[in-house]
Amino acid sequence: MAAIKSAIPSRRFDAVIVGAGGSGMRASLQLAEAGLNVAVLSKVFPTRSHTVAAQGGIGASLGNMSEDNWFWHMFDTVKGGDYLGDQDAIEFMCREAPKVVYELEHFGMPFDRNADGTIYQRPFGGHTANFGEKPVQRACAAADRTGHALLHTLYQRNVRARTHFFVEWMAIDLIRDADGDVLGVVALEMETGEVMMLEAKTTIFATGGAGRIFAASTNAFINTGDGMGMAARAGLPLQDMEFWQFHPTGVSGAGVLITEGVRGEGGILINSQGERFMERYAPTLKDLAPRDFVSRSMDQEIKEGRGCGPNKDHVLLDLRHIGADTIQKRLPSILEIGHKFANVDATKEPIPVVPTIHYQMGGIPTNIHGQVVSTTNGVNSVVNGLYAIGECACVSVHGANRLGTNSLLDLIVFGRAAGNHVVASNLKARSNKDLPKDAADLALSRLAKLENSTGSERVQDVANDIRSTMQQYCGVFRTDELLQTGVQKIMELDERRKHVSFKDKSKVFNTARVEALELDNLIETAKATITSANARKESRGAHAHRDYEKRDDENWMKHTLWYSEGNRLDYKPVVTKPLTVETFQPKARTF
Ligand code: FUM
Repeated sequence: MAAIKSAIPSRRFDAVIVGAGGSGMRASLQLAEAGLNVAVLSKVFPTRSHTVAAQGGIGASLGNMSEDNWFWHMFDTVKGGDYLGDQDAIEFMCREAPKVVYELEHFGMPFDRNADGTIYQRPFGGHTANFGEKPVQRACAAADRTGHALLHTLYQRNVRARTHFFVEWMAIDLIRDADGDVLGVVALEMETGEVMMLEAKTTIFATGGAGRIFAASTNAFINTGDGMGMAARAGLPLQDMEFWQFHPTGVSGAGVLITEGVRGEGGILINSQGERFMERYAPTLKDLAPRDFVSRSMDQEIKEGRGCGPNKDHVLLDLRHIGADTIQKRLPSILEIGHKFANVDATKEPIPVVPTIHYQMGGIPTNIHGQVVSTTNGVNSVVNGLYAIGECACVSVHGANRLGTNSLLDLIVFGRAAGNHVVASNLKARSNKDLPKDAADLALSRLAKLENSTGSERVQDVANDIRSTMQQYCGVFRTDELLQTGVQKIMELDERRKHVSFKDKSKVFNTARVEALELDNLIETAKATITSANARKESRGAHAHRDYEKRDDENWMKHTLWYSEGNRLDYKPVVTKPLTVETFQPKARTF
C-alpha cells in the first residue's frame, strides 16, 4: 500500500518502448545495439510478456520441407485477410520473413531441427503452396513453445546490449506538446506508486492486444489494451477494430490455447457423430483452413446440434492417431495443457475445444516503418515521435483475419523495421524537446480522480460486465440487433466506469490502482470494437454478419478509423498496390 507522490521526477532517454514482448524487445535490441539510450517499460518481467504464450511457430518461406517462396506467402496472407490487408505492407513482411528468422537463429533461438540441421517447419492454417493448391510447411517451430524460445532469446540479447528495463512499470498516458509531438510517457511504478515522466525523443508502443475485453480469451490478464487506450485518449484513431480473431481451439471452459500446430501435425476436428466435419466446409485445406473459416464451421456444427458433451457446446480435437512419440516430441505443452485444463491424456483421448478470442487485427494505424499515422480529412500524417508495433498496431498486414504464425512474424519484422527507422533518424544528434508545463496533467488527473472518487462502482464489476457484454454481443456471428444493443450497453458501461472508486481509501493497494487504470483502456478498446463492428454492413474475414452475409467490395473495401471523442468513425482506403509486384485482386474465398 502506498500513496501517489506529488512531486514527479523525470528521466530522459533517446527512446522509450512501452512493452517487452516480441516486438518491443526486437525494436529495443536494434536501438541499444546502435548505441542509443533505451528504456523498456513492462507491467511484468519481460519474459512473462504475452509473446511467451505463442506456441506453434513463426511463418517464413524457408522451403526447408518442400518448395516455398515469399510470393505464395504473400498471396496466402492477402487472401487469408479477406483482401482488407495493405498489400505494400504484406509484401514487405513476407519478403523480410526468411531474413528475420535466420537472424533469430543466429541470435541463438533454439528452433527444432530437421535431420539435415535446417529449421523444422510445420503446416499451419491457410498457408499453401502454389496459390492455394495444397498446404505447405511454413511455420518455423520450437516444439510448441516458439514464443517462449523467442522471448528468452531476445531478452538475453537485450541484457547484453544494455537495454534499461523498467520492470513492473505501467505507462499511464502519452506526453504530447502543443505541436502534437510525442515527448514520452507518464508511468507508474506498480510496487511503490511512484509516478515518473519518462522523456524520450521517440516513444514506441509495443503494448500487445486487448483480448481481455472478452470473457473467454486465450490472452494473458495483462492484455488490457493499454496502448490503444493511451492513443485514444491522446486523440489518435484506432483502425479496423471490428476484426477480432477467434482461435478455433481454446480448451472448452478454460480458454487456454491449443496450438493450430496440433492440426499442422495431423490433428483433426470431429463432431458428436465422430465426423471430420471440416472436409465438408473446406475440401482442399480441411482442418487447416484459415481460422475465421474453421471457427465459423465449428460454431455451425454446434448450432446444428452436432456439438459434443452433455451440453453439446464444443467439438473435439483428436490427435490420438499422431502417436505418443510425436506428441511428446513436437507438442509437449499440449499434452500438459490437456492434463491440467481438460483432464484428458491427449495421447488417448480427444481434447474438448471451442472458438476462443485470440487476436485483434486492428490497432493504432502505422506505416511500414512503424510510425503512427493520423488521418484528417483524408490526408495521412505521421505523428512525430510516436511508433507502434506488434498487436497494438495496425500496419494492416492481417486485414480482416490473420493467418497463424504471422503474428510472431509481424512482431519481429516491424519491431526490427521500427528500430532501423529510429536509428536512421539520427536521434543522437538531437536533444530532447522541453516538456510542456501540463505534461503530466492528464495522467495525474486520472489518478487524482480515482483517489477522490465517491462513486459506488467496483472496478472488477465493470470490467466483468464489459467482458460479458462483448462476448454476448460481438461474438463469432453478429447481427444488427446484437451490435446495436451491444453499443448501447458498452456506452452505459463507459458511464459506470466514470464512477468507480475504492471502498476503503486507506487500504488501496497499487494492484487495485493498476486495475482501475486498465479499466479505462479496456473500455476505449471495447467502444472502438463494437462501434466499428456495428457500422460495417458486410461480412469480411472475422467480421461475420448474419444480416449482410456477403463481402461487399464496392462499399466496404476500406479501413475503419475510430476516434474516442464523440465515439466517431471515419474511413480510409485499403492500399491495394504492393511494392514491386502486381495487385492480388479480390476473389471468392474458398479453401
Ligand atoms: O495456434 C497457435 O500456435 C497460435 C499461433 C498464432 O496465433 O499465430
